[in-house]
Amino acid sequence: MTLPNVFVTRKIPENGLELLRSRAKVRVSDQDRPLTRQELLLAVREADGVIGLLSDRIDAEFFDAASRLRGYANYAVGYDNIDVAEATRRGIPVSNTPDVLTKATAELAWALIFAAARRVVETDGVMRSGLWPGWGPLQFIGADVSGKTLGIVGAGRIGTATAMMSRGFDMRVLYLESPSGRRNPALDDTLGAECVPFDRLLAESDFVSVHCPLTPDTRHLFDMDAFRKMKNSAVLVNTARGPVIKEDDLVRALRSGEIAAAGLDVYENEPRMAEGLAALSNAVLLPHVGSATRSSREAMADLAARNLLAMLSGQKPPTCLNPKVLGLS
Ligand code: DGY
Repeated sequence: MTLPNVFVTRKIPENGLELLRSRAKVRVSDQDRPLTRQELLLAVREADGVIGLLSDRIDAEFFDAASRLRGYANYAVGYDNIDVAEATRRGIPVSNTPDVLTKATAELAWALIFAAARRVVETDGVMRSGLWPGWGPLQFIGADVSGKTLGIVGAGRIGTATAMMSRGFDMRVLYLESPSGRRNPALDDTLGAECVPFDRLLAESDFVSVHCPLTPDTRHLFDMDAFRKMKNSAVLVNTARGPVIKEDDLVRALRSGEIAAAGLDVYENEPRMAEGLAALSNAVLLPHVGSATRSSREAMADLAARNLLAMLSGQKPPTCLNPKVLGLS
């Protein structure tokens, strides 16, 4: 029996590669960086299946280049990099990695909330500089978290987990109405959370945590207009996708005091940041590490491999985004 050819666009944890090797001929990019577009299009020509990253654009041009493709598995839960409609039109199943990184990403949102509220990075820098003159009553005053209002934009898996983690801090929780008007019973029943329109969430939240997917509707959801509606003391945290925030406007809002601070794990044009952002002491800036715990990354590798192998053998992938191409729904 000939084994299918699988191409992995960047090295992922070994457990996923081992699983793939048990049932496929596996080639892994030897570059320790995302492939350029040309490299990617060239590398997938003979592939029956591909595992790729959130930085790989999976669109008509990709499918044209990968003419033998029978499945694509994203090594990420977010899938704004995949043209799912185009994949579906061509009958190619595609998948993502939900659930396995929910807790890790929600924990990172909390790391950013605390770091921004209590100026953790800025004050760490003071200690390292050797310039701390000793304790002072008016030094490095930050914001309380306990008892404050947390606004969740995108009350899906990760937004819900982030909200649930507020229980230790006795917070009031608001979450954004979904376009379908669907409520989140876990948040309603467990936290007594309120489902509110965007303007109300902006006006009443002390901490706003972004967890929505990137779609045409959420691109630049946070712009100057939104920042003006937020409290001047508000902290904005984003562990979802960078383009949900108009980054130039965020720099202006942080500079002018329109909002107090931001904690970012994702950027509009990764790996670059908007001009001026790096110089702001009221911004905590992380390099897209929401899912970067050993167990999450290994679980992502396992899930992506299982998805792809199922696609290649005509079985039901655990987390397929377009199951109807396999005659499943
Ligand atoms: C995702 O999975 O979408 C994250 O952004 C990276 O793990």
